[in-house]
This record gives sequence, structure tokens and C-alpha cells, in this order.
Amino acid sequence: MTAPTSHRWLRWPTRPDEPRMAFGADYNPEQWPREVWAEDVAAMRGAGVNVVSVAIFSWARLQPAPDRFDFAWLDEVMDLMHAHDIAVDLATATASPPPWLTTLHPEVLPVSFEGHTVWPGARQHWRPTSPVFREHALRLVRAVAERYAEHPALAAWHVSNELGCHNVHDYSDDAARAFRTWLQARYGSVEALNHAWATSFWSQRYGAWEEVLPPRFAGHGSFINPTQRLDFQRFSSDALAEHLRAERDVLVAITPDVPVTTNFMVMGETRGMDYAAWAADVDFVSNDHYVQDGERPLDELSFSANLTGGIAGGRPWFLMEHSTSAVNWKSVNVPKRPGHLVRDSLTHVGHGADAVCYFQWRQSQGGAEKYHSAMLPHAGTGTALHRTVQGLGARLAALSPVVGSSRRPADIAIVFDWDSWWAAEGSGTPTQELRYRQEALDWYSACLDLGLRADVVPLAADLSGYALVVAPVLHVVPAALAERLEAYVAGGGHLVTTYFSGVVDEHDHVWLGGYPGALRDLLGLRIEEFGPLEPGTSVDLDNGSAGSVWADGVDVVDPAVEVRVRYKDGVHAGSVAVTRRPVGAGSASYVGTRLGASGVAPVLADLARDAGVVSELPEEARGAVELIRRERDGEQYRFLVNRTDGYVELPAPAGEVIDGAAPASDRLVIAPREVVVVRSAD
Ligand code: GLA
Ligand code: GLA
Repeated sequence: MTAPTSHRWLRWPTRPDEPRMAFGADYNPEQWPREVWAEDVAAMRGAGVNVVSVAIFSWARLQPAPDRFDFAWLDEVMDLMHAHDIAVDLATATASPPPWLTTLHPEVLPVSFEGHTVWPGARQHWRPTSPVFREHALRLVRAVAERYAEHPALAAWHVSNELGCHNVHDYSDDAARAFRTWLQARYGSVEALNHAWATSFWSQRYGAWEEVLPPRFAGHGSFINPTQRLDFQRFSSDALAEHLRAERDVLVAITPDVPVTTNFMVMGETRGMDYAAWAADVDFVSNDHYVQDGERPLDELSFSANLTGGIAGGRPWFLMEHSTSAVNWKSVNVPKRPGHLVRDSLTHVGHGADAVCYFQWRQSQGGAEKYHSAMLPHAGTGTALHRTVQGLGARLAALSPVVGSSRRPADIAIVFDWDSWWAAEGSGTPTQELRYRQEALDWYSACLDLGLRADVVPLAADLSGYALVVAPVLHVVPAALAERLEAYVAGGGHLVTTYFSGVVDEHDHVWLGGYPGALRDLLGLRIEEFGPLEPGTSVDLDNGSAGSVWADGVDVVDPAVEVRVRYKDGVHAGSVAVTRRPVGAGSASYVGTRLGASGVAPVLADLARDAGVVSELPEEARGAVELIRRERDGEQYRFLVNRTDGYVELPAPAGEVIDGAAPASDRLVIAPREVVVVRSAD
């Protein structure tokens, strides 16, 4: 597990030992005349804001020409913040290069898959592997760090911004060079690369490193070598992490006592960055989350927050950005409904966020994001939205006892793996309809529907303490992972996996002898041919559910395997869809079709019962309420999130309600979309 090793939190400039929830936003004063700044700080104070991220997109202002720096305005902003007891998470300002740099050095501009230049005009138009960009970026980082090293407002460093949001896959010649270096370190010899990439296929055999390229556009309708693609995805994530480390190293050398973070994007289909591998490079994990379109946006939010907590090793993390209301980057941008802002924010807090921040403080008057909501909208402070923001600030202040507490481990783990995400959704697969993250989310939603708590964790996490481990579409299973899972089950653990799991090794080579390859013996099954389903079709199951996307014909090999569900129709009618193989005190289960959240629920209920996992919620709250738990030194915090638009009533839990409802009598009533926090001794 590569969670942050040091876990140094925000260095509060004043009253450093007083626990407090961080509350604030990206603050972009350079978009406004100076007179507005005074209004800003006054309104910030009024809303309870105590931290702002400054200078994220300020490179062009801080360094207006190659040999000229202008810090005067930022000095003033830093002083102003400090005078009002607002801490600064100061950006290194390297997120978007200024026009002079790309004019002088167009070779820093990324190149798209098809070979087009990515021009300036938006932001983040830089190659992660450009030595020229790196040199200029680090020069700026050094200048900013030296300037503000001793500034009392400085609470943390914010490296760049959403690394990889727009530039994760760059196909330039710089990328080609760096890719070769990365491959040399991974494989050692061209021969080993040839083996890993299966280059005997289609005459792709390499004779020298110089012949190797990124997986650039290779013609319409043609499939690029899948291992070349997978390695390029791994490399691209690593290349950005290397940039993060390069900036961090400059910062640490100048200000060893100031923690360093960068904002991840654990949300939706953002898949380019393997954040589990990045976490060791920051002092604390930060995440940006925006509500996604989809059938269950609240579940997706909770899943993302939960996974962020998993990446952070269960320790507190920083919600660097979310939105107070509408975003502006969807085709239709609907404002949040009453209650959503507070509920979304507090759900993040339940999952470990000790900071609740937004993009951005004041809604822009011009520029590409002028229709994106903010803490202070165009219509000003006298608005319903701003009053909600003020109310949230007061509630977060009341939640200060929670600060510093950790995730209380659940009984169920849902395993999340970037390699499997990338490889299972590659090209030339049995179906392009498979959605790795959605499958994991379906299992998570089923947990929520059943009132079962689950931790979403990266694959490298220690699984031994979990009673039930769900590993949906665990497609890439190197031999060592298969052994790990066998040991988990042999130790009494209960494992469940799904279709298209265990199929390939770390080189994306198929395990021979029948699917699910590396997991075949553990599951006691054998599959000869994959059974993808035509889009829009489904097969009925004998438990009343239906399966879609995939329906394997499965042969049971081990007679001990219990058949839980069978197909009722389709080509595999009568064949097994869900199985469970008891192994000593543990078990290994297989689900051969996509059940969706509602179809997963009954299957999961059975598997959980067999694993001895029970809901921690009273019957009437299961499904209606999400229970999240944090703990510290014998103190427990239960977050009860009302997932519904109605009132939920349940027996009052033991302990003291510290937020979200009237102090409990014997019943606790949770208002629609409300979050109640209960503190107790156990
Ligand atoms: C064509 C090619 C073969 C193979 C098949 C796959 O026929 O000639 O090499 O790629 O398509 O369908
Ligand atoms: C990202 C960026 C912000 C802003 C928001 C808008 O998270 O980091 O600068 O563009 O999106 O949703």
C-alpha cells in the first residue's frame, strides 16, 4: 500500500493545535480589481472560510516575461489573507504556461493521438515529459517557494492543478523518448519487451529501443498492440507522478516544514491517473469531485469519496474542489437542489474529508467558467446559495471534533485496480460495452441498498481484515496476485469476482487452459468461450433478475461448487450464472454476468450472510440511509446520510447527536437529504 507515509496535515498559521475543519475555495483575485478583494475577505469571514487555494492559474501574472517576476499583487493577497486569519494553500502556479513560454518554446505543446499540436487557448497545454517545460516550471516553483517560504499565511503547497486533466496522454517525441526510458527500466532488454508485447504478432518485432514509439494513430479500423497501449497508460500516469515529485522536491528543499499536496480527480470515468500509486508522493491526499451524470449520482459521489479515503490509507484527506451548484462543462448544467450542497459536502466529510473546498470563491465575470457556480454567485451575498454556504460553514465549525479521525474499517472491501480498468476496456476485446468502474459502483450501490458498509480500496491494500472481498472485473491477475487471493481465501476470507476476471497476466497475455485463467482453480470453474451479449439485450436468471453485457457458459469443475443462480434463457439456459466454492472456512464466488445494482443486491445479501457480515443499521434505515463511520482514540463518529427525498425515522443510536438533527430522544428523525452526525464512546 502506498498511502502517504508522512501524513502531515495543513499547517495552520494561527492556533495550530486547535482542531478545525478547513473550509474554503480556489480564490482567483487576479480576475478582479483590488477593491473587490476587501469585499472578498469580509464575505469569506462571514461564511466561516478559513483556507483558500491561491495562484493556481497565475503563471502569466507572476512571471510576465522570461526574466521578470512580479510578486507584488500576490504579496498583498497573502498579507490580506493572513490579516484575516485565512490560511493559504499556495499553488506552484505551473498548471497553465503563459503565452510567452509557448511562443518561445512551442516544443512544450503536447501532441494528440492523431499527431495534431495541442495549441494554447485553454489550459494545461504542456508535455509532462518536456525537459524545457520542466526547467521553466521548476524555476517558477523555486521563485514562488523562496518568495513565500517565511510567509505566515502559507499552510500547504498545491502542486500544479489536476495533473493530467487535459494532458495525460501526449504522443510527442519527448513522450516517445521518455516512454523508451520507462520501458528500459521495466524490461531491461529489447528481447524482454518483445516477449511482453507479443511482437511476433503482426511483424512488430523490435531490434533496437529507438524503434519503439508511443501507440500513435495507426489507421482507422486497426488495433494497436494492446500491451503497448497498456504500458503507455502506465507510463503516462507515472510521467505525471514524476512531474509531481520534481515540483515537490524543489518545495521540500526550500520549505521542509510545509506539507505538499496536489488535487487528484477520483471521480467518474477519469481514468488516466493511477492515484493509488501517486499517494506516497504527497503529504496528504486531496481530491476534486463533481457530481456525475448517471442513474445514481449520490452513490457515485460516495464511492469516489470512499475510494479517496482508501487511497489515503483511511486517514483524513482534503476535498480540494467540488461545486456549490451547477458546473458549466456538461451539455446541460442544472443547479443543485436544496439540500444537495450540504449533503454532498458532509458525505465527503464522513468518508474522511477534513477539508471542504470549492471551485471557486467568487463566480467569474468573464472567461471559460463564468457560468460555473461558486461560493459567491454573480447575484452576490444576498442570495439563497450564499446563505447556504454560510450555513454550511457554521455546521463544519461544529464538526471540528471529527477532525483527525480515521476511517473505521468495514467488513466488506471492494477492490479497485487501474490495470484492470485499462486492460478490460482496451480495444479488440470481446465487448466494448464493459464498464469497469460501473461494475464496481453497482456492487457499491447494492451494499448501500442493503445497508452494508463497504470500503473501496486499491488493490494493493491489506485485505486480510475483511470478511468479504468483492473484486469486480479483476481482469489483470499476475501470478503473485492469484497467490495472494488464494491465501486470503485459505485464511477464511470470502472472495467474489465477476466475468472477465483472471483472464490475463501483467503483460496482458491470456492465461491458457480456459478462463477465468489465474482464478480458475480457486473458483473451481472453467469457461471455454466468452459470452458477450448484444447491446440492449439481456438474459433472464432463475432468481428473477436479468443479466446484461456478458453471460458466460460456465462448466463447474470442482464438485464442491454450489450453484446459486442459473440462466433461464439465452444460449446458456440451465447453465450456471452465480457460483460459490467453499474453501475451508472461506469461499470463492463467481458472477458470470452483469447484474446491475438491483440484481447484485440479492446475490450480495446471500454472500454477505454466508460471510457473517450483517448490517450495522436498524432494519427501517437500511437502504434509506448510508452509514459512514470514523473513529479516534475510543471515540466513534457515525454519519447517517439520508439518501432519500423523504423523512427517515429510526431508533436513536447510542451517543450524542452533534450535527444535523435535534438531540435524540428515543427516535431519530432524519430530514430529506440531511446528514446527521452522532458521537459515541464506541
Ligand atoms: C483479416 C486479416 C487477418 C485477421 C482477420 C481477423 O482477415 O487478414 O489477419 O486480422 O481479419 O478477423
Ligand atoms: C476542475 C479545475 C478547476 C475548474 C473546475 C470546474 O476541477 O481544477 O479549475 O475548472 O474543474 O468544474
